[in-house]
Amino acid sequence: MKKIILMFLISLVQFLSCQKFDNLIEIKSPSGFIKIMVLKNYDEWTYEVFYLDKKIISNSKLGIAFKDRESPFTNSKVIDIKRKYHDEYWELPWGEVSKIRNNYNEAKITYTNNKNFEVGDLIFRAYDDGIAFRYYVKEGNKYSDSCVVINELTEFNIAEDAEVWWTPAYTSNRYEELYRNTKLSEMDTSHTPLTMRFENGMHVSIHEASLKNYSSMQIYSNGNSQLNCDLAPWSNGDKVRTKSSFYSPWRTIIITSSAKDLITSHLVLNCNEPSKIKDTSWIKPSKYIGIWWGMILGKWTWGESFRHGATNARSFRYIDFAAQNGFDEVLIEGWAAGWKGLFPEDSVTVSFTKSTPDFNLKQVQDYAVSKGVRVQAYHETMANTKNYLSQIDSAFSLMNNYGLKNAKIGQVGPRLDKSEFHYGQYGVEYYRKVLKKALEYKIGVNFHEPIKDTGERRTYPNMLTREGARGMEYNAWQGGNPPSHTTVLPFTRLLNSPMDFTPGIFDLLYENLDLDISKEYPITFTVIDSGNGYSNLRFKSGESIWFEKKMVLDTIISSGRPVYTWKISQNVQVGEWEWGVTADHILNRAYDIWIPKSLENKKNRKIEVMNDGSFFGENSIIIPYHGSDTTHYDYFLKKPKKNDKQRVKTTISKQLALYLVIYSPLQMASDFIDNYIDNPAFQFIKDVPIDWDSTIVLNGEIGQYVTIARKEKNSENWYIGSITNENQRIMEIDFSFLGNGLYEGTIYADAEDSDWKSNPLTFEIYRKKFTNLDMHQIKLSKGGGQAISLKLIE
Ligand code: NOJ
Repeated sequence: MKKIILMFLISLVQFLSCQKFDNLIEIKSPSGFIKIMVLKNYDEWTYEVFYLDKKIISNSKLGIAFKDRESPFTNSKVIDIKRKYHDEYWELPWGEVSKIRNNYNEAKITYTNNKNFEVGDLIFRAYDDGIAFRYYVKEGNKYSDSCVVINELTEFNIAEDAEVWWTPAYTSNRYEELYRNTKLSEMDTSHTPLTMRFENGMHVSIHEASLKNYSSMQIYSNGNSQLNCDLAPWSNGDKVRTKSSFYSPWRTIIITSSAKDLITSHLVLNCNEPSKIKDTSWIKPSKYIGIWWGMILGKWTWGESFRHGATNARSFRYIDFAAQNGFDEVLIEGWAAGWKGLFPEDSVTVSFTKSTPDFNLKQVQDYAVSKGVRVQAYHETMANTKNYLSQIDSAFSLMNNYGLKNAKIGQVGPRLDKSEFHYGQYGVEYYRKVLKKALEYKIGVNFHEPIKDTGERRTYPNMLTREGARGMEYNAWQGGNPPSHTTVLPFTRLLNSPMDFTPGIFDLLYENLDLDISKEYPITFTVIDSGNGYSNLRFKSGESIWFEKKMVLDTIISSGRPVYTWKISQNVQVGEWEWGVTADHILNRAYDIWIPKSLENKKNRKIEVMNDGSFFGENSIIIPYHGSDTTHYDYFLKKPKKNDKQRVKTTISKQLALYLVIYSPLQMASDFIDNYIDNPAFQFIKDVPIDWDSTIVLNGEIGQYVTIARKEKNSENWYIGSITNENQRIMEIDFSFLGNGLYEGTIYADAEDSDWKSNPLTFEIYRKKFTNLDMHQIKLSKGGGQAISLKLIE
């Protein structure tokens, strides 16, 4: 009898489900402007999104495919829909703002599959600035505990072939690629945030939030505006190895009516769990300088050498400078014993506790503390996660013992442990593990070569900052960042996400690199080409920071095949240097050929200059005749390279404005300290805060310009940064956002004749009083910027 009643009840529930839940579920944002329609068709789920009744996303598939397991979405039926309205303000311990509103309508749709056991939820949220959804897959009784995701079927069928800013995924540079600007239909697989602009000026940015125990989402187009989720695979092709039950990360779509509103959306942070910790007083946002730029440019080395950057003497000097100028930390890179170079064959030798003989961490940190400063720890794992994880407890305990608060943790290398993508599931879990470990030891984290930011800082406020895009360092290398790069970042990589970009270079043309040379001697370098027809020879050496210098064609001996002799005379500092030459071979359409690599032993040439000016080693190269063998030219450029001298492609004022435009709670002044001494523009870097009460985006268009105003935390003072791409512009700024009273403004502006290309070093500083009734005209030179500090005086 009981059985019959039970059967009856089950049928009743099933009958009611069919009655109660039709196949179209609507979720509206609190204001009603954004609407999601979730549709259950015969064997699949889809969704659509509308903004002010305009369709943004048309019918797009939802779902996950498993290995050895049925898709829970096939022939499923809804058994419950729970709706929820949520409205709260939550506080940030540090950030661009001090409080964030989290306000949405949610629908949790619970479904079963055709075998009638419960298999999970589809959770949709409609915010006033976008939507988010995620999957919850629950273990049915049929399957074992572990499961492998082979594909996520999520689509984003964008209603028009919008203009998009994207970076190619799966390159060896991880996230460090220049943005491409094309139509969606022309896009290749891209990282997220993926930001697009509709013809009517609306903007959409697709990303993910709370990425954990899963692999990260990239996006590819079908050659039209239909976009698909692409999960980064493990090295064997699995996408996600998980246990059922599990939640997917949130799929987030920010939708705004203008580009500038993207920047003040906090949707991604809102889709993360609240903070795990109550006491955040130990977390230390910091302004810092570092023994760093010298290594990036090649003037100093990370590893032990006579040009080693991290010496006690240099550290003391940097600490003194930091203390005198109000910096909190000094980053010292390359102090670790066992460093064999940035891309060593085997990185198991790097220690995270032992230092090189010329550096003593305890002494240096004690000295720093005596001056009210700290060392920022530096752990370069070289992407060997096993080596790092095996030392992480001792490394973090050492930091605790010495009083270091923040660690820069690098993962240089194309793959983690030479096999896994930084953004595959292994990477996702590795970075979480390090972050949680850092929390255990109360350490703030600055990841370089990171996993992308999906809002972890809400849950783990010790997740301070990270790299994850082309930062300043790219300007040390050929090509560099074009002026437009930093006008794309705020609308893409920087949405909801701090970046350790490291602004503040004043010696934009690298004219002062030789400041501390004590002795140098002239040496002539010769290259003899035995008749191959190389042209346009350029000398490069570690001594001159690998800058290219043209060699002069000295003699031609024409006896059958012409033999060419090329020469260059160089002042070379005392020390041991590597060198070589690049050349073009026009007939074979091969350009930028690194000659040492095309010769027998393939090694760079070496020369050691002694204190008395004598030298050992090679100052000449003879290139033998290759005959008809063209393999020497194979692995080089196929097109002539543009003559693009290494430099920073901005004006000085733009460097200052970047402190506002690129938010980071660890903010670096990245130049050599000698370049700051006596430069009046340095005052702005000293003054600019790193923690904010509020942020207003005054204007902006992707890839063109942006102006951001921020109010200092616990103060009435405001700071403004405005930057432009290659074009000059004039804009009127309305100061009505200021509080009541009189403000003294200090304006760091491009000079009349400033131009990133031809005249980057000029700027002017002037003072002016403002109230909230005033307008201010900002003039930006080509590749320029303006930085303003506004202090309440009455
Ligand atoms: C690349 C990082 O971005 C840079 O900051 C660091 O100095 C080098 N790797 C060496 O770790």
